Amino acid sequence: MTAAAPEPKENMGQPVPRYDAVVKVTGRATYASDMPLDNPAYAFLVTSAIAKGRIDRFDLDEARSVRGVIEIVTHENAPELKESKLFSDGGYAGTTIQPLKSAEISHDGEIIAVVIAESYEAAREAANRVKVSYTATAPSATFDSPGTTAAAAKGQNAQFKEDAKVGDFAKAFDEAEVKITAAYGTPTQHHNPMELFTTSCAWMGDNLVIYEGSQYVYGLKNGVAEQLGIDPDKVRVVNPYVGGGFGSRGSMTPRTAIIAAIARRLNRPIKLVPTRDQGFTIATYRAETRHEIKLGAARDGKLVALRHEGAEVSSRADAYCVGGTKTTTRLYACPNVDSLVSIVRADRNTPGFMRSPPEVPYLFALESAMDELAVQLNMDPVELRRINDTTNEPIGGKPYTSRSLMACFDEAAKAFGWAQRSPQPKSMSDGDWLIGYGCAATCYPTQMAPSAARVRLQRDGRTRVEIAGHEIGTGAYTVIAQTAADRLGVPLEKVAVFMGDSDLPPAPVAGGSNSTASTCSAVMMVCDQIRQRLFKAVMPDSLTEKAKETVGISPAPTTQAAKSDRPLDIEKAFDALGVGVVEEYGEWKPDGAPLDSFRAMHSGHPRLVGGHQMKDQIAYAFGAEFVEVRINRFTHEIRCPRLVGAFAAGRIVNPRTARSQLMGGLIWGMSSALLEATEIDERYARYVNDNLADYLLPVNADVPGVEVIMLSEQDDRINPAGVKGLGELANVGTNAAICNAIHHATGQRIRNLPVRLENIEA
Ligand code: MOS
Repeated sequence: MTAAAPEPKENMGQPVPRYDAVVKVTGRATYASDMPLDNPAYAFLVTSAIAKGRIDRFDLDEARSVRGVIEIVTHENAPELKESKLFSDGGYAGTTIQPLKSAEISHDGEIIAVVIAESYEAAREAANRVKVSYTATAPSATFDSPGTTAAAAKGQNAQFKEDAKVGDFAKAFDEAEVKITAAYGTPTQHHNPMELFTTSCAWMGDNLVIYEGSQYVYGLKNGVAEQLGIDPDKVRVVNPYVGGGFGSRGSMTPRTAIIAAIARRLNRPIKLVPTRDQGFTIATYRAETRHEIKLGAARDGKLVALRHEGAEVSSRADAYCVGGTKTTTRLYACPNVDSLVSIVRADRNTPGFMRSPPEVPYLFALESAMDELAVQLNMDPVELRRINDTTNEPIGGKPYTSRSLMACFDEAAKAFGWAQRSPQPKSMSDGDWLIGYGCAATCYPTQMAPSAARVRLQRDGRTRVEIAGHEIGTGAYTVIAQTAADRLGVPLEKVAVFMGDSDLPPAPVAGGSNSTASTCSAVMMVCDQIRQRLFKAVMPDSLTEKAKETVGISPAPTTQAAKSDRPLDIEKAFDALGVGVVEEYGEWKPDGAPLDSFRAMHSGHPRLVGGHQMKDQIAYAFGAEFVEVRINRFTHEIRCPRLVGAFAAGRIVNPRTARSQLMGGLIWGMSSALLEATEIDERYARYVNDNLADYLLPVNADVPGVEVIMLSEQDDRINPAGVKGLGELANVGTNAAICNAIHHATGQRIRNLPVRLENIEA
């Protein structure tokens, strides 16, 4: 075993190499814009140079004169599209701002024209020659900008159901022995996946094929069909590989239906490859947030009162919000809790999911405040968490299905060397460098959604798994192949997995870290259907009907359980059945999924269940993160030499891909504290650093040491696969751990991200 392929502990699968490793490192993995098209035309977008106002006039003469231009589509001649509802209102869209519908402009960088030409270069050249006259009005950019409006999230966002509260916060806070009140802020961030927001559309008669990187092929298929007004069965979305998602490809953006409609009109395949900077405004992003936290505690550290008020920016058109109070009000034992989430509307594109959408900003606030409270109590911050650890969430009193938070703190503290920390701020140094140690908790809800799968087993053991899941770089192919191999008892190298195609059986959105739990549960169930058919064929007649119903099926989630079932002699069973291939299709849904689940699954609406919304329990994965920062006394340069995280997330199907996910999360978490921020020019409500040179991202030298520890945890109450999901676990809390470490190094508390050297006073 190596660091990259950790030794599996109890309830972990084998760290097999990635299923898609070879095609990826040899450049043979085909991404959406690599798909060959027959005689394509090329599209280039023109985007608005103002954030608010209207287009008075286009002057297209010069653009039209560029050789190779086929057509220029503006609101004056655009194909008609049906409106799409926001996903949270039962639709598919990540924004209801539909470009090319009118002369009105809703945000900077909105699509205002699409140039179609014989080559990419001609389309780009012509797009640069499109002249636009606008009447601009002053836009509202962000918090505190004139003209914004604010209102409670509850009542305007259907998915935000509750401002959690319990007990009497005001009285308890008033009477608390120790209290803190503090305000925090997090910046705008953009996902910047490597793969640009490309779309290729090709029609064959009435049938449309879309090649587009997507985290939800069924959502995109149904959403585009709705906008075009055609039967969803005529639309196919294909993307066997996706070059990063991070939430940006979870819901439909307006570009797809526009390109599809133009391709239909021109009767020619069209390929769109937008630029990096256009990606900042034609897709979604993480909006800036503000928080006020009030904590009241007894002298012994026990929380008696907690209040979390959050505010988030959204567009004028859409009430998007992440509402992380659902998590922060339930993380620690506390009898008196209050919360409120508000949405502030500005002249911006609609924000959307970005890795751990609620937890990253909201736990930054809570886990910073917990550290502030520990300082005021003169208590070790780890011990403060221990004192307030709980088996039941405080709002509804429901038990956590399993909770290894303190075990994670203890493991990570040991690996990090937390005991060597001298608690006084500014007490540790090395030459010119002040040293700080900080820590924070992380957690992420365990979510599942209905999923289907088709599995085919041949007499020679070769197996084909078909499921419209998504490989966004996470290891989805690998864990699905492992699950089928384990369940059928066939060698891994005989399993082929087909994903990223909406003609395959539906899987949920690859979001909310639900993919492994959902798709592996479905694949297990369908493999069991095959096992049952085979077992029945070879079973002695003396067995009762009841035994025949259950033989070959094990309810337990572990590999060990599958192995301890009767071994399956595949060849004997095939001979008895007299067939060469056995194929099964099945639809799985998690406990507590709504009645319309399977219908919704086929029409591209994921019915995610889990987290705090389960009936009698609450399910989260947990972790603890420790960081060392070093701050130069003279230049105030901030370095982060070490990140150590310990995590428990139920069954780990593959410790290699899991570690890779968690390591990426830790690095992204560090990045969200020290590097990443989209800067906004408030005069124009415009993103300034919309490129990979000015939008800071971490490189290897930014985090020399990352250590990932995976704890063994078994949870049989969540789903058949026993998987909690960890894609979005590790990048939560890191930002707080870093600010807590900066406080330890310098004595200075920084409550707004990102932290840059100019923010350091000491
Ligand atoms: Mo994740 S932000 O749910 O793709």
